[in-house]
Amino acid sequence: MSQLFDKELFQKKLTSRWLGKEFVHLKKVDSTNLYLKKIPAENLRHGMVVVADDQQKGRGQHQKDWVTNPGENLTFTLALKPDRAEGLSLLTLSSALAVADVLHRYVEKTFSLKWPNDIYVDQKKIGGVLTECSFLGANPEKVLIGIGVNINQKTFEEEQVGNAVSLSQLAGKYFSREELLADILKTIEQLYQSWAERDKTLHRKVSSALIGYGDWVRLNVDGELAEGRYKFLGVNEKGELLVINEKLELNTYSHEQIRIITGNKSISKIR
Ligand code: BTN
Repeated sequence: MSQLFDKELFQKKLTSRWLGKEFVHLKKVDSTNLYLKKIPAENLRHGMVVVADDQQKGRGQHQKDWVTNPGENLTFTLALKPDRAEGLSLLTLSSALAVADVLHRYVEKTFSLKWPNDIYVDQKKIGGVLTECSFLGANPEKVLIGIGVNINQKTFEEEQVGNAVSLSQLAGKYFSREELLADILKTIEQLYQSWAERDKTLHRKVSSALIGYGDWVRLNVDGELAEGRYKFLGVNEKGELLVINEKLELNTYSHEQIRIITGNKSISKIR
């Protein structure tokens, strides 16, 4: 069922302190990330959020498209202006964790994160995060965290069917996107606060939600299967991937060209 986002209802539900207080609802846009990219950093307020009902050229990681039915899902971008660049990967993962946590409150399933920034349930993708930053020297002038979550979509394109799922498919009912977005923003705000304060427990929370955490996994680096097996230790305080190899040597990876291949595809619990 395609519906226009109800901005008034959303604003009634929103209990965050600053995230989403400045809010733009677009009926149609190419991409919410692109929309915010075009606004100069000096005109952007930290915490501004843009949501679109119909995102016609949604973008995903690795130059892939993010395609969703208009008016059925959540497609939105947060504009943040953090004072450091270090740990932005952890911030992205924390945003994904916030989404997973909120979805779990609505549907009693185990939602997990798949490195680098996907949200999974029942071995299917329910959401994804695309973070894009612009820098002034070494400092970020704006960080755009674009999030897509499948909420009320009932059917998917043939090429997505095996791998995509929506909240409504899981629960067999319709969900209020306004209420969900308000909850998601409140939860992201809380985790952002932890990230900004360098809370030492944040990377552990993220790690325990990652698929394959604590398991022996294979790694795919730049499309090539790396030799041997690696024990997946989650992420560190910067959000870098931590693994040890069979000789018990520790390796960290920061780039997203790494894929983790789990043997039994088992999904670890969030917290
Ligand atoms: C991925 O899983 O590849 C990331 C998908 C991110 C999609 C969201 S939808 C809102 C925002 N605008 C975009 O164009 N992309 C992100």
